[in-house]
Amino acid sequence: MSYKQHFPIFETNKELVYLDSAATTQKPKQVIDAVTKFYEEENANIHRGLYNLSIEATKKYEEARKIVAEFINADENEIIFTSGTTNSINLLVYTIDSLTWTEKEKGKNEIVLSEMEHHSNLVPWQQLAKHFGYKLKFIPLTNNFELDYNKAKEIITDKTAILSITHISNALGTINNVKQLITLAKQKNPNIITIIDAAQSIQHMKTNVKDLDCDFLAFSGHKTYGPMGIGILYGKKPILEKLRPFYFGGDMITSVTLDNSEFQNPPAKFEAGTQNIASVIAMAEAIKFINNIGLSKIQQHEQELKIYALTKLKQIKDIAIYHSPNIENTSSIISFNIKGIHSHDLASLLNDYNIAIRAGHHCCMPLMSALGISGTARISFGIYNTKDDIDKLCNALIKIREVFEK
Ligand SMILES: Cc1ncc(COP(=O)(O)O)c(C=O)c1O
Repeated sequence: MSYKQHFPIFETNKELVYLDSAATTQKPKQVIDAVTKFYEEENANIHRGLYNLSIEATKKYEEARKIVAEFINADENEIIFTSGTTNSINLLVYTIDSLTWTEKEKGKNEIVLSEMEHHSNLVPWQQLAKHFGYKLKFIPLTNNFELDYNKAKEIITDKTAILSITHISNALGTINNVKQLITLAKQKNPNIITIIDAAQSIQHMKTNVKDLDCDFLAFSGHKTYGPMGIGILYGKKPILEKLRPFYFGGDMITSVTLDNSEFQNPPAKFEAGTQNIASVIAMAEAIKFINNIGLSKIQQHEQELKIYALTKLKQIKDIAIYHSPNIENTSSIISFNIKGIHSHDLASLLNDYNIAIRAGHHCCMPLMSALGISGTARISFGIYNTKDDIDKLCNALIKIREVFEK
């Protein structure tokens, strides 16, 4: 059975081979319907209205929070709606001094990231470091495209104030052992703040924030079969209580005078102004969609596709694949180059076959520098992909390579 039937885009574009789910997933009908239904039948602003439409919209918005919380084993008050992973991380960068200031006064001013971070989990921290006197340190990679856990033991020290790491590399597909890093970090400095960028993991593997023991975790709706413009920031309740709000304005206050304002408890204190209500509600539908199939089934399907794709890609002449040989530690993302063909050329030529892949640095320029390349061609799978998609890709790649060889 193909899961394509749940996704209207494959009905309107029957020949589409979509291999760019790491950039954004396609949307199942139930998610699209939830957005349409909201605007056609349920549209009202939340929290303030005393009429039925507003009361119902508020109920659905808060129900969505519960669904997201259950999905990652959090408490509903620990879920903040943002506009995406980038927004979630920026929220932290702008406010984290309210958690780390005292530690910083004691000389704990190191921020540890890895060399495989997406720019979203690098550029904001660079700005914090530049303007507020933090020092950035990076966990390097091994030759297997994995994090070097031995080096991590030296890099994370008792001076580390913040550890922010991607769960899965969007360029390599490597699954990082974030739990091990968090445990190590808390041993070195019990007051360290730990953050997981879960943009590429949440839709592929079961996430349990209590088990991971992370302080924060960020992800995007649009990469998780949900709509664009919605993201999540999970934070541990006692930490959210201490964290300063980022945006200020309506809905996040309890009382305001001309001189002062009192703020609501989390999560409301982080959700100023009108939120993307339709997308929050549709995000809950995306999670229901995932839950109905089951994450273990999704993972199994994608792992099978990955193994099939790796086997077939390896048969293509002059291909270099940037993928850990420990495939149980990798997700359904494969990066590669074919000798003599720029990845951008590959992507545009594949477009002629109606095959959508991503090419370039994947918002990981430092990672590409570490690998000594300017970019890669990247394929990434969703639940709708099939072995037939991979066959079409590999056949097209063989033909393109032959043209370049002539
Ligand atoms: C690992 C990782 N982090 C963060 C982001 C940024 O996500 P968004 O653009 O939805 O904010 C991405 C997007 O590709 C990503 O792959």
